[in-house]
Amino acid sequence: MNSESKIDKSRLPKHIAVIMDGNGRWAKQHGKPRVFGHKNGVKAVRAVSEASAEVGIEYLTLYAFSTENWNRPKLEVNALMALLVDTLRKEITTLNKNNIRLNAIGDLSRLPAKSHRALLEAIEGTSENSRMTLTLALNYSARWDIIEATKKIARKIKEGSLEESHIDEVLFSSFLSTSGMPDPELMIRTSGEQRISNYLLWQMAYTEFCFTDTYWPDFSKEHFYQAIVDYQSRERRFGKTSDQITT
Ligand code: IPE
Ligand code: IPE
Ligand code: MG
Repeated sequence: MNSESKIDKSRLPKHIAVIMDGNGRWAKQHGKPRVFGHKNGVKAVRAVSEASAEVGIEYLTLYAFSTENWNRPKLEVNALMALLVDTLRKEITTLNKNNIRLNAIGDLSRLPAKSHRALLEAIEGTSENSRMTLTLALNYSARWDIIEATKKIARKIKEGSLEESHIDEVLFSSFLSTSGMPDPELMIRTSGEQRISNYLLWQMAYTEFCFTDTYWPDFSKEHFYQAIVDYQSRERRFGKTSDQITT
């Protein structure tokens, strides 16, 4: 049976975060260079974005490039940046057709000028869409995100426009790059790795994690639906007892 039909539409996560991992190993498995894996990963991005919008997810956030990924061989980094430009240009039409708004988080100013420009154009070109927000985490690091928020708060205090006693979780969240988005209820990581790799550390304090061995280029709509079904079978207790949740 198709897993989509097992999804309870009344209890959907609002925000799903994904760590798209395993492109390199997928390519190796096929006897090809790593870049071939990244190129094939684009199909999975399309499938998951479409599935998300169709099922009714409001926010989908994909980890596309971490700050640590600059340490990869120059050839691979350049290929990833070129692929980004190419994909953004090609996908604008599909995003508009599916009424998806593009957004990006991370230190975007450090991206190559061409990639930065293509990104801003795609964000601008989809800004009127309202069905789902697709956020790409690019040159993203959660510790960077938290430090940036802290600096902004410190500046406000120094200027006298904010009082220390007003700092709470809600205020702090509003200074993060994900301001205005709900925290992800579900995080999916492909390729068998079970770590966070500097992704959304603050935002994932109570997120459910779903790890799958599937490499990202093989990740399909069906895998995505299965992850949502798995998520819906869990009991989120937020520190309480099971009895408190169910009665
Ligand atoms: C994920 O696949 C894509 C990026 C990090 C850009 P990897 O490139 O990390 O693939 P593996 O982990 O080496 O297989
Ligand atoms: C995490 O994947 C970053 C992205 C998916 C963009 P990595 O493959 O870079 O993570 P590590 O190095 O294995 O933790
Ligand atoms: Mg990896």
